Amino acid sequence: MGKGCEDIVKEVLKIVWPKPLKLFTAGPVACFPEVLEAMSFQMFSHRSKEYRDLHRDTVERLKAFLEAKEGTVLLFPSSGTGVMEASIRNFVSPGGKVLVTIIGSFGKRYKEVVESNGRVPVVLEVEPGNPVLPEELDDALKKNPDVEAVTITHNETSTGVLNPLKELAKVAKEHGKLVFVDAVSSMGAADIKFDEWGLDVVFSSSQKAFGVPPGLAIGVFSKEALKKARNIPNRGWYFDVLKYIKYQEEQWSTPSTPPIPQIIALNVILRVVEKIGGKYEWLKIYERRAEKIRSGVKALGMTLFAREGYESPTITCVRTPPGINGLDVYNRMREKGYELAKGYGQFKKTTFRIGHMGYMPDEYIDEMLKALKEVLEELKKGK
Ligand SMILES: Cc1ncc(COP(=O)(O)O)c(C=O)c1O
Repeated sequence: MGKGCEDIVKEVLKIVWPKPLKLFTAGPVACFPEVLEAMSFQMFSHRSKEYRDLHRDTVERLKAFLEAKEGTVLLFPSSGTGVMEASIRNFVSPGGKVLVTIIGSFGKRYKEVVESNGRVPVVLEVEPGNPVLPEELDDALKKNPDVEAVTITHNETSTGVLNPLKELAKVAKEHGKLVFVDAVSSMGAADIKFDEWGLDVVFSSSQKAFGVPPGLAIGVFSKEALKKARNIPNRGWYFDVLKYIKYQEEQWSTPSTPPIPQIIALNVILRVVEKIGGKYEWLKIYERRAEKIRSGVKALGMTLFAREGYESPTITCVRTPPGINGLDVYNRMREKGYELAKGYGQFKKTTFRIGHMGYMPDEYIDEMLKALKEVLEELKKGK
Protein backbone atom coordinates (compact mmCIF):
# COMPACT_ATOMS: atom_id res chain seq x y z
CA MET A 1 0.00 0.00 0.00
CA GLY A 2 1.03 3.59 -0.46
CA LYS A 3 2.81 5.82 2.03
CA GLY A 4 0.52 7.11 4.76
CA CYS A 5 -1.77 4.07 4.55
CA GLU A 6 -0.18 2.25 7.51
CA ASP A 7 -2.89 3.23 9.98
CA ILE A 8 -5.96 2.74 7.80
CA VAL A 9 -6.83 -0.68 9.21
CA LYS A 10 -6.52 0.69 12.73
CA GLU A 11 -8.87 3.55 11.83
CA VAL A 12 -11.55 1.13 10.67
CA LEU A 13 -10.98 -1.10 13.65
CA LYS A 14 -11.76 1.89 15.85
CA ILE A 15 -15.21 2.04 14.21
CA VAL A 16 -16.07 -1.64 14.51
CA TRP A 17 -14.23 -2.49 17.73
CA PRO A 18 -14.09 0.72 19.80
CA LYS A 19 -13.78 -1.56 22.83
CA PRO A 20 -13.39 -5.30 23.29
CA LEU A 21 -16.63 -7.24 23.74
CA LYS A 22 -17.20 -10.92 24.35
CA LEU A 23 -19.98 -12.04 22.07
CA PHE A 24 -23.08 -13.91 23.22
CA THR A 25 -25.00 -12.75 20.16
CA ALA A 26 -27.71 -14.31 18.02
CA GLY A 27 -25.45 -14.00 14.96
CA PRO A 28 -23.10 -13.04 13.53
CA VAL A 29 -21.24 -14.76 16.34
CA ALA A 30 -17.59 -14.80 17.38
CA CYS A 31 -15.52 -16.78 14.89
CA PHE A 32 -13.16 -19.54 15.90
CA PRO A 33 -9.48 -18.48 15.85
CA GLU A 34 -8.77 -21.07 13.14
CA VAL A 35 -11.42 -19.37 11.01
CA LEU A 36 -9.93 -15.90 11.45
CA GLU A 37 -6.53 -17.23 10.50
CA ALA A 38 -7.85 -19.07 7.44
CA MET A 39 -9.73 -16.01 6.22
CA SER A 40 -6.59 -13.97 5.78
CA PHE A 41 -5.55 -16.11 2.79
CA GLN A 42 -5.09 -14.41 -0.60
CA MET A 43 -8.00 -14.77 -3.07
CA PHE A 44 -8.12 -16.87 -6.21
CA SER A 45 -10.57 -17.48 -9.07
CA HIS A 46 -13.74 -19.44 -8.50
CA ARG A 47 -13.19 -20.96 -11.94
CA SER A 48 -9.80 -22.42 -10.96
CA LYS A 49 -8.86 -26.00 -10.16
CA GLU A 50 -8.04 -24.92 -6.62
CA TYR A 51 -11.53 -23.55 -6.08
CA ARG A 52 -13.08 -26.70 -7.53
CA ASP A 53 -11.15 -28.81 -5.03
CA LEU A 54 -12.24 -26.60 -2.15
CA HIS A 55 -15.89 -26.55 -3.23
CA ARG A 56 -16.06 -30.28 -3.73
CA ASP A 57 -14.39 -31.08 -0.42
CA THR A 58 -16.67 -28.68 1.47
CA VAL A 59 -19.83 -30.11 -0.11
CA GLU A 60 -18.72 -33.66 0.63
CA ARG A 61 -17.99 -32.80 4.26
CA LEU A 62 -21.39 -31.11 4.61
CA LYS A 63 -23.13 -34.13 3.11
CA ALA A 64 -21.54 -36.34 5.75
CA PHE A 65 -22.30 -33.87 8.56
CA LEU A 66 -25.96 -33.62 7.56
CA GLU A 67 -26.31 -37.35 6.78
CA ALA A 68 -27.51 -36.40 3.31
CA LYS A 69 -26.24 -39.19 1.04
CA GLU A 70 -29.37 -38.84 -1.07
CA GLY A 71 -29.58 -35.08 -0.82
CA THR A 72 -27.83 -32.47 -2.97
CA VAL A 73 -25.83 -29.92 -0.98
CA LEU A 74 -25.33 -26.51 -2.60
CA LEU A 75 -23.48 -23.37 -1.55
CA PHE A 76 -25.04 -19.94 -2.14
CA PRO A 77 -23.48 -16.47 -2.13
CA SER A 78 -26.17 -15.07 0.17
CA SER A 79 -27.47 -15.20 3.71
CA GLY A 80 -29.94 -17.90 4.73
CA THR A 81 -33.03 -15.93 3.72
CA GLY A 82 -31.94 -16.25 0.08
CA VAL A 83 -32.48 -20.00 0.26
CA MET A 84 -35.74 -19.49 2.16
CA GLU A 85 -36.93 -17.58 -0.90
CA ALA A 86 -35.44 -20.22 -3.22
CA SER A 87 -37.45 -22.94 -1.46
CA ILE A 88 -40.68 -21.20 -2.43
CA ARG A 89 -39.69 -20.15 -5.96
CA ASN A 90 -38.24 -23.53 -6.94
CA PHE A 91 -40.52 -26.03 -5.25
CA VAL A 92 -44.02 -24.51 -4.94
CA SER A 93 -46.30 -23.91 -7.94
CA PRO A 94 -47.19 -20.27 -8.63
CA GLY A 95 -50.33 -19.58 -6.60
CA GLY A 96 -49.84 -22.85 -4.68
CA LYS A 97 -50.51 -23.20 -0.97
CA VAL A 98 -47.90 -23.70 1.75
CA LEU A 99 -48.56 -24.57 5.38
CA VAL A 100 -46.34 -22.18 7.32
CA THR A 101 -45.77 -23.11 10.94
CA ILE A 102 -45.02 -20.09 13.10
CA ILE A 103 -43.49 -20.27 16.55
CA GLY A 104 -41.85 -16.82 16.45
CA SER A 105 -40.45 -14.08 14.24
CA PHE A 106 -38.64 -16.24 11.69
CA GLY A 107 -41.74 -18.30 11.00
CA LYS A 108 -43.44 -14.97 10.31
CA ARG A 109 -40.68 -14.10 7.86
CA TYR A 110 -41.31 -17.38 6.00
CA LYS A 111 -44.96 -16.39 5.66
CA GLU A 112 -43.93 -13.05 4.12
CA VAL A 113 -41.56 -14.81 1.74
CA VAL A 114 -44.38 -17.13 0.62
CA GLU A 115 -46.72 -14.17 0.03
CA SER A 116 -44.20 -11.94 -1.70
CA ASN A 117 -43.46 -14.73 -4.18
CA GLY A 118 -47.12 -15.07 -5.17
CA ARG A 119 -47.83 -18.25 -3.23
CA VAL A 120 -50.51 -18.64 -0.57
CA PRO A 121 -49.60 -19.24 3.10
CA VAL A 122 -51.88 -21.25 5.37
CA VAL A 123 -50.76 -20.51 8.90
CA LEU A 124 -50.39 -22.74 11.93
CA GLU A 125 -49.23 -20.44 14.72
CA VAL A 126 -48.65 -21.30 18.35
CA GLU A 127 -48.13 -19.14 21.43
CA PRO A 128 -44.50 -17.85 21.52
CA GLY A 129 -42.31 -19.98 23.77
CA ASN A 130 -43.88 -23.18 22.48
CA PRO A 131 -42.90 -25.56 19.70
CA VAL A 132 -45.35 -26.94 17.17
CA LEU A 133 -46.45 -30.35 18.32
CA PRO A 134 -46.84 -33.25 15.87
CA GLU A 135 -50.56 -33.63 16.65
CA GLU A 136 -51.11 -29.93 15.91
CA LEU A 137 -49.41 -30.32 12.55
CA ASP A 138 -51.38 -33.47 11.81
CA ASP A 139 -54.61 -31.64 12.56
CA ALA A 140 -53.66 -28.65 10.36
CA LEU A 141 -52.76 -30.94 7.47
CA LYS A 142 -56.04 -32.84 7.79
CA LYS A 143 -57.85 -29.52 7.51
CA ASN A 144 -55.68 -28.32 4.59
CA PRO A 145 -54.98 -31.33 2.38
CA ASP A 146 -54.28 -29.09 -0.62
CA VAL A 147 -51.02 -27.51 0.64
CA GLU A 148 -47.91 -28.47 -1.37
CA ALA A 149 -45.37 -28.07 1.41
CA VAL A 150 -44.87 -27.42 5.12
CA THR A 151 -42.32 -24.93 6.47
CA ILE A 152 -40.70 -25.54 9.85
CA THR A 153 -38.35 -23.26 11.76
CA HIS A 154 -36.05 -25.82 13.32
CA ASN A 155 -34.73 -23.43 15.95
CA GLU A 156 -36.67 -20.21 16.55
CA THR A 157 -33.98 -17.68 17.36
CA SER A 158 -36.45 -15.09 18.64
CA THR A 159 -37.85 -17.31 21.41
CA GLY A 160 -35.07 -19.85 21.99
CA VAL A 161 -37.26 -22.84 21.11
CA LEU A 162 -36.15 -25.98 19.26
CA ASN A 163 -38.95 -27.64 17.30
CA PRO A 164 -39.20 -31.46 17.32
CA LEU A 165 -38.11 -31.61 13.68
CA LYS A 166 -37.87 -35.35 13.26
CA GLU A 167 -41.42 -35.89 14.55
CA LEU A 168 -42.87 -32.97 12.59
CA ALA A 169 -41.24 -34.13 9.36
CA LYS A 170 -42.69 -37.61 9.90
CA VAL A 171 -46.20 -36.18 10.12
CA ALA A 172 -45.72 -33.98 7.04
CA LYS A 173 -44.43 -36.96 5.07
CA GLU A 174 -47.38 -39.12 6.14
CA HIS A 175 -49.52 -36.46 4.47
CA GLY A 176 -47.30 -36.56 1.35
CA LYS A 177 -46.01 -33.00 1.73
CA LEU A 178 -42.63 -31.48 0.97
CA VAL A 179 -40.79 -30.39 4.13
CA PHE A 180 -38.86 -27.11 4.09
CA VAL A 181 -36.66 -26.45 7.12
CA ASP A 182 -35.21 -23.16 8.24
CA ALA A 183 -32.13 -24.46 10.06
CA VAL A 184 -30.36 -21.09 10.16
CA SER A 185 -29.75 -21.17 13.91
CA SER A 186 -29.67 -24.94 14.37
CA MET A 187 -27.43 -26.41 11.68
CA GLY A 188 -24.09 -27.21 13.27
CA ALA A 189 -25.53 -27.33 16.81
CA ALA A 190 -28.64 -29.55 16.70
CA ASP A 191 -28.73 -32.87 14.93
CA ILE A 192 -30.13 -33.03 11.41
CA LYS A 193 -30.42 -36.37 9.61
CA PHE A 194 -31.51 -35.24 6.17
CA ASP A 195 -32.25 -38.60 4.53
CA GLU A 196 -33.58 -40.50 7.51
CA TRP A 197 -35.97 -37.75 8.60
CA GLY A 198 -37.38 -37.32 5.09
CA LEU A 199 -36.50 -33.64 4.72
CA ASP A 200 -36.78 -31.94 1.32
CA VAL A 201 -35.15 -28.54 1.75
CA VAL A 202 -32.89 -27.53 4.63
CA PHE A 203 -31.00 -24.26 4.66
CA SER A 204 -28.68 -22.39 6.95
CA SER A 205 -26.24 -19.46 7.14
CA SER A 206 -22.53 -19.41 7.86
CA GLN A 207 -22.69 -16.83 10.67
CA LYS A 208 -24.40 -19.01 13.27
CA ALA A 209 -23.42 -22.37 14.77
CA PHE A 210 -20.48 -22.96 12.43
CA GLY A 211 -18.87 -19.79 13.79
CA VAL A 212 -17.98 -18.36 10.37
CA PRO A 213 -18.59 -14.77 9.14
CA PRO A 214 -21.83 -14.00 7.25
CA GLY A 215 -22.20 -14.20 3.47
CA LEU A 216 -22.51 -17.92 2.77
CA ALA A 217 -25.72 -19.94 2.77
CA ILE A 218 -25.98 -23.72 2.67
CA GLY A 219 -28.92 -25.54 1.11
CA VAL A 220 -29.74 -29.25 0.94
CA PHE A 221 -32.35 -30.57 -1.47
CA SER A 222 -34.08 -33.93 -1.87
CA LYS A 223 -34.57 -35.79 -5.13
CA GLU A 224 -38.34 -35.38 -4.80
CA ALA A 225 -38.03 -31.59 -4.48
CA LEU A 226 -35.60 -31.34 -7.39
CA LYS A 227 -37.90 -33.41 -9.61
CA LYS A 228 -40.72 -31.02 -8.86
CA ALA A 229 -38.55 -27.95 -9.61
CA ARG A 230 -38.27 -28.98 -13.26
CA ASN A 231 -41.95 -28.18 -13.74
CA ILE A 232 -41.98 -24.89 -11.83
CA PRO A 233 -41.85 -21.87 -14.16
CA ASN A 234 -40.03 -18.60 -13.39
CA ARG A 235 -37.67 -19.92 -10.75
CA GLY A 236 -35.68 -16.72 -11.25
CA TRP A 237 -31.96 -16.57 -12.07
CA TYR A 238 -30.00 -15.90 -8.91
CA PHE A 239 -31.66 -18.63 -6.86
CA ASP A 240 -32.51 -21.13 -9.58
CA VAL A 241 -31.51 -24.30 -7.79
CA LEU A 242 -31.31 -26.31 -11.03
CA LYS A 243 -28.80 -23.80 -12.39
CA TYR A 244 -26.69 -24.26 -9.23
CA ILE A 245 -26.76 -28.01 -9.74
CA LYS A 246 -25.63 -27.64 -13.35
CA TYR A 247 -22.63 -25.52 -12.33
CA GLN A 248 -21.79 -27.85 -9.48
CA GLU A 249 -22.01 -30.97 -11.63
CA GLU A 250 -20.04 -29.47 -14.50
CA GLN A 251 -17.36 -27.52 -12.67
CA TRP A 252 -17.75 -27.75 -8.87
CA SER A 253 -18.56 -24.08 -8.73
CA THR A 254 -21.51 -21.67 -8.52
CA PRO A 255 -23.27 -19.60 -11.24
CA SER A 256 -22.10 -16.30 -9.69
CA THR A 257 -19.06 -15.53 -7.56
CA PRO A 258 -19.10 -17.42 -4.25
CA PRO A 259 -17.82 -16.03 -0.92
CA ILE A 260 -14.51 -17.89 -1.10
CA PRO A 261 -13.18 -16.84 2.34
CA GLN A 262 -16.33 -18.10 4.07
CA ILE A 263 -16.12 -21.40 2.20
CA ILE A 264 -12.50 -21.82 3.27
CA ALA A 265 -13.58 -21.04 6.84
CA LEU A 266 -16.44 -23.52 6.76
CA ASN A 267 -14.11 -26.15 5.40
CA VAL A 268 -11.76 -25.47 8.30
CA ILE A 269 -14.59 -25.90 10.83
CA LEU A 270 -15.76 -29.15 9.24
CA ARG A 271 -12.20 -30.45 9.57
CA VAL A 272 -12.12 -29.33 13.22
CA VAL A 273 -15.32 -31.31 13.75
CA GLU A 274 -13.61 -34.38 12.31
CA LYS A 275 -10.49 -33.82 14.42
CA ILE A 276 -12.42 -33.69 17.71
CA GLY A 277 -14.17 -36.99 16.99
CA GLY A 278 -16.96 -36.20 14.56
CA LYS A 279 -20.36 -34.60 14.49
CA TYR A 280 -21.72 -36.09 17.71
CA GLU A 281 -18.72 -34.96 19.76
CA TRP A 282 -19.13 -31.48 18.27
CA LEU A 283 -22.86 -31.41 19.09
CA LYS A 284 -22.02 -32.40 22.68
CA ILE A 285 -20.00 -29.18 23.01
CA TYR A 286 -23.13 -27.26 22.11
CA GLU A 287 -25.28 -29.29 24.50
CA ARG A 288 -22.89 -28.74 27.41
CA ARG A 289 -22.59 -25.04 26.72
CA ALA A 290 -26.35 -24.56 26.51
CA GLU A 291 -26.83 -26.51 29.73
CA LYS A 292 -24.22 -24.43 31.55
CA ILE A 293 -25.91 -21.17 30.49
CA ARG A 294 -29.41 -22.40 31.28
CA SER A 295 -28.48 -23.60 34.74
CA GLY A 296 -26.47 -20.41 35.39
CA VAL A 297 -29.46 -18.25 34.50
CA LYS A 298 -31.81 -20.33 36.66
CA ALA A 299 -29.37 -20.11 39.56
CA LEU A 300 -29.80 -16.32 39.34
CA GLY A 301 -33.53 -16.80 39.96
CA MET A 302 -34.72 -16.25 36.40
CA THR A 303 -36.87 -18.45 34.19
CA LEU A 304 -36.58 -19.39 30.55
CA PHE A 305 -39.00 -18.31 27.84
CA ALA A 306 -38.91 -21.68 26.09
CA ARG A 307 -41.23 -24.45 27.18
CA GLU A 308 -39.34 -27.08 29.17
CA GLY A 309 -38.00 -29.87 27.00
CA TYR A 310 -37.79 -27.68 23.87
CA GLU A 311 -34.94 -25.33 24.84
CA SER A 312 -32.61 -24.28 22.05
CA PRO A 313 -29.01 -25.51 21.93
CA THR A 314 -27.89 -22.19 20.41
CA ILE A 315 -29.76 -19.37 22.13
CA THR A 316 -31.42 -18.95 25.51
CA CYS A 317 -34.28 -16.49 25.84
CA VAL A 318 -34.55 -15.35 29.46
CA ARG A 319 -37.53 -13.70 31.15
CA THR A 320 -36.38 -10.65 33.07
CA PRO A 321 -37.33 -10.51 36.75
CA PRO A 322 -40.38 -8.33 37.59
CA GLY A 323 -39.59 -4.62 37.38
CA ILE A 324 -36.43 -5.11 35.30
CA ASN A 325 -36.33 -4.10 31.65
CA GLY A 326 -34.60 -6.50 29.26
CA LEU A 327 -33.08 -3.59 27.33
CA ASP A 328 -31.43 -2.33 30.53
CA VAL A 329 -29.91 -5.77 31.10
CA TYR A 330 -28.60 -5.75 27.54
CA ASN A 331 -27.15 -2.21 27.83
CA ARG A 332 -25.54 -2.80 31.24
CA MET A 333 -23.98 -6.06 30.06
CA ARG A 334 -22.49 -4.22 27.09
CA GLU A 335 -20.97 -1.67 29.45
CA LYS A 336 -19.35 -4.59 31.28
CA GLY A 337 -17.90 -5.98 28.05
CA TYR A 338 -20.50 -8.62 27.09
CA GLU A 339 -22.66 -8.34 24.02
CA LEU A 340 -25.83 -10.39 24.56
CA ALA A 341 -28.87 -10.22 22.26
CA LYS A 342 -31.89 -8.02 22.92
CA GLY A 343 -35.31 -9.57 23.35
CA TYR A 344 -37.04 -9.83 19.99
CA GLY A 345 -40.03 -7.78 18.78
CA GLN A 346 -42.83 -7.62 21.33
CA PHE A 347 -40.60 -9.26 23.96
CA LYS A 348 -37.89 -6.56 23.94
CA LYS A 349 -38.66 -5.37 27.46
CA THR A 350 -39.66 -8.59 29.14
CA THR A 351 -36.84 -10.80 27.88
CA PHE A 352 -33.23 -10.75 26.80
CA ARG A 353 -31.31 -13.45 24.97
CA ILE A 354 -27.96 -15.11 25.43
CA GLY A 355 -26.52 -16.62 22.28
CA HIS A 356 -24.20 -19.61 22.64
CA MET A 357 -22.84 -20.10 19.15
CA GLY A 358 -19.36 -19.87 17.67
CA TYR A 359 -16.17 -19.27 19.59
CA MET A 360 -16.94 -19.34 23.31
CA PRO A 361 -14.45 -20.75 25.79
CA ASP A 362 -15.99 -22.01 29.04
CA GLU A 363 -14.38 -19.27 31.09
CA TYR A 364 -16.20 -16.62 29.03
CA ILE A 365 -19.47 -18.19 30.16
CA ASP A 366 -18.43 -18.12 33.83
CA GLU A 367 -17.37 -14.48 33.54
CA MET A 368 -20.55 -13.52 31.69
CA LEU A 369 -22.77 -15.14 34.34
CA LYS A 370 -20.86 -13.32 37.07
CA ALA A 371 -21.37 -10.00 35.28
CA LEU A 372 -25.05 -10.83 34.80
CA LYS A 373 -25.43 -11.40 38.54
CA GLU A 374 -23.91 -7.98 39.22
CA VAL A 375 -26.12 -6.28 36.63
CA LEU A 376 -29.27 -7.80 38.12
CA GLU A 377 -28.24 -6.72 41.63
CA GLU A 378 -27.54 -3.18 40.42
CA LEU A 379 -30.84 -2.95 38.58
CA LYS A 380 -32.79 -4.35 41.55
CA LYS A 381 -31.25 -1.75 43.81
CA GLY A 382 -32.12 0.90 41.20
CA LYS A 383 -28.48 1.87 40.84
C1 LIG B 1 -34.20 -18.94 12.48
C2 LIG B 1 -33.69 -17.91 11.53
N1 LIG B 1 -34.13 -17.91 10.27
C3 LIG B 1 -33.69 -17.03 9.37
C4 LIG B 1 -32.77 -16.07 9.71
C5 LIG B 1 -32.27 -15.13 8.67
O1 LIG B 1 -30.99 -15.55 8.30
P1 LIG B 1 -30.04 -14.63 7.42
O2 LIG B 1 -29.89 -13.35 8.17
O3 LIG B 1 -28.79 -15.44 7.31
O4 LIG B 1 -30.73 -14.43 6.12
C6 LIG B 1 -32.27 -16.01 11.01
C7 LIG B 1 -31.30 -14.98 11.39
O5 LIG B 1 -31.10 -14.69 12.55
C8 LIG B 1 -32.74 -16.96 11.94
O6 LIG B 1 -32.27 -16.96 13.19
